[in-house]
Amino acid sequence: MSQSEGNIESVLHEDRLFDPPASAGAPWHIGSLDEYKALYKKSIDDPESFWSNAAEEMHWFSHWRQVVSYEAPDAKWFVNGTTNLCYNCVDRHVENGFGDQVGIIWESEPIGDEGPEILRLTYADLQTEISKFANVLLDKGVRRGDVVTIYMGMIPELAIAVLACARIGAAHSVIFGGFSSQAIADRVEDANSKVIVTCDGSWRRGSVVPLKDNVDQALEILGEGKVRSVIVRQRCKNGIDWVDGRDTWWHDVMQEAEADCDCVPLDSEEMSFLLYTSGSTGKPKGIHHTIGGYMVYTATTSKYVFNLVPDADQVFWCTADVGWITGHSYILYGIMPNRVPTLMYEGAPNFPDADRFWDIVSRHRVTQFYTAPTAIRAFMKWGEEHPKKHDLSSLQVLGTVGEPINPEAWMWYHNVIGGGACPIVDTYWQTETGGHMITPLPGATSTKPGSCTLPFFGIDAAVVDADGNEVGANEGGLLVVRKPWPGMLRGVYGDRDRFIDTYWSTIKIDSKPVYTAGDGARRDKDGYFWIMGRIDDVINVSGHRLGTMEVESGLVAHESVVEAAVVGMPHEIKGTGIAAFCTLAPGYEANDDLRKKLREHISDQIGAIAKPDMIRFTDALPKTRSGKIMRRLLRSIAAGEVEVNQDTSTLEDFTVVAKLQGGDES
Ligand code: WTA
Repeated sequence: MSQSEGNIESVLHEDRLFDPPASAGAPWHIGSLDEYKALYKKSIDDPESFWSNAAEEMHWFSHWRQVVSYEAPDAKWFVNGTTNLCYNCVDRHVENGFGDQVGIIWESEPIGDEGPEILRLTYADLQTEISKFANVLLDKGVRRGDVVTIYMGMIPELAIAVLACARIGAAHSVIFGGFSSQAIADRVEDANSKVIVTCDGSWRRGSVVPLKDNVDQALEILGEGKVRSVIVRQRCKNGIDWVDGRDTWWHDVMQEAEADCDCVPLDSEEMSFLLYTSGSTGKPKGIHHTIGGYMVYTATTSKYVFNLVPDADQVFWCTADVGWITGHSYILYGIMPNRVPTLMYEGAPNFPDADRFWDIVSRHRVTQFYTAPTAIRAFMKWGEEHPKKHDLSSLQVLGTVGEPINPEAWMWYHNVIGGGACPIVDTYWQTETGGHMITPLPGATSTKPGSCTLPFFGIDAAVVDADGNEVGANEGGLLVVRKPWPGMLRGVYGDRDRFIDTYWSTIKIDSKPVYTAGDGARRDKDGYFWIMGRIDDVINVSGHRLGTMEVESGLVAHESVVEAAVVGMPHEIKGTGIAAFCTLAPGYEANDDLRKKLREHISDQIGAIAKPDMIRFTDALPKTRSGKIMRRLLRSIAAGEVEVNQDTSTLEDFTVVAKLQGGDES
């Protein structure tokens, strides 16, 4: 790939511009910036024709009567159309004669004498397995509109369970396997979910994560009778407890299940799933997505952003877990309608060795690879000898998601993994947006390390000030989206006020609310977007969103902690690490033993991803006169800035700052 400086006007001297390379595989869907610009303009001027063309590529049982109806904040897409996500991911391909093609490639984490276990499930296999499991769910009393909770490892049955819900019109709520019992209990309760699908355990870096035990504990927290059945897929053969009448083995019920179960035609606006995500208050919110709009949006972004083409020997691999939105949209729902095999890998990137990912890429001839900056930084640290051991020449497009990527990691990804020949798509989006919002297109957009570049078709993104006016080039502001798009969330489950407060109350334009993402951003002179990070109390740890309040509530729930404040701090691998400041109850000693206990406690309460990287004990927290914790100040202290270079005049007690600075460090 040629690197050219400034062939479109470039403002920042540190900007380096990488022109899109010629495709090494199937021709690019969008082959030039002009082509992108023309189609983008059409999609903004006439979204209805753009999105109806996109939707025509999917199967509908009955056609929509209207493309979109919108009265902010409420949007409906493909109004009165009926369709089915599972049908479009699986059955349609069988109907069209592609039943023998591979839909999902799965690789186990454990490696036996003959290598890892590898499964290649064709669309016909998937149709059978999904239909059987759909019948199991029906038999367990699950009905259209119910929420099924899925808490499993990355095994094919996870995809089967998800798609079985979609088949019969049940919504799923997938909980990432790294979450603990309290987090499961909160989500099951909020969604009023009566059926849970889980595993005995899941493999992670050679050890077993006891998923079923966590479910049992969650159900203990919830009390008897809340959940009717727990279906357990055996994976690790770890010992588990059993509750007769409530618990069933997956293999027992699947043996008896019928292999026929039609996809139910569902209204475009019915709920497809809930996915819980952190907000700035303590309780995670259930992001509500629908069927038609979400399907069209994820399939269309997948097609253009990853340049998916059927029958072109592509193998798509997204390394996320299905428990996050990235896995929902870009392992399953967006990729599968494009009829390109999607690879699911069960375990850790460094098991048994630090080259596992590259071993997978070379053995499966992966063409599109999609991962997070935090993983790239870890790979950099482990050393380039690991990727160098493998043939990565199959790669055509490299993607990143979840957090801003630092230019150093971008360059490493570009050179060491992509061999300088693969475009990098730095995709900015959120659980709430359903799919990519701001992203390069691989054959069209020149890229700049650290910028997510330009909006996807139909996305009217802007950086505005508090009055909703667009700010000038390179000025910081709030990222908003001024027009509706098909993949947008339709609500926060059971909490209309929170939906409106969180996304629709900050900015109004022409007295109409516009979607506010919660991220700060700037645009450079080329119109490229640079995400500057969250503007609320959400921190992005290893690409995963965590509310600081969630961790604070977890800490004060421990008997030793009276008050806690949590802020983000720079972290070499995670991007942002977690710093906790705690004041202790009388009688507790500030020492490493207590730090360890508090970390374990947070791991039990929320999950290992929420464990503080640093815990500082202090006599009191710095507060303003009105009693607000001075988080800016704590952030500076956590970042290790020697001088606290912020205005401390509103500090209630200056001595607190002095103590924090000299603080007891972990
Ligand atoms: C951040 C993940 C910069 C952002 C798909 C957003 C990013 C939050 C990028 C959503 C990116 C995601 N560049 N920041 N390419 N992608 N973010 O809901 O702060 O887990 O609001 O969705 O991650 O995280 P979520």
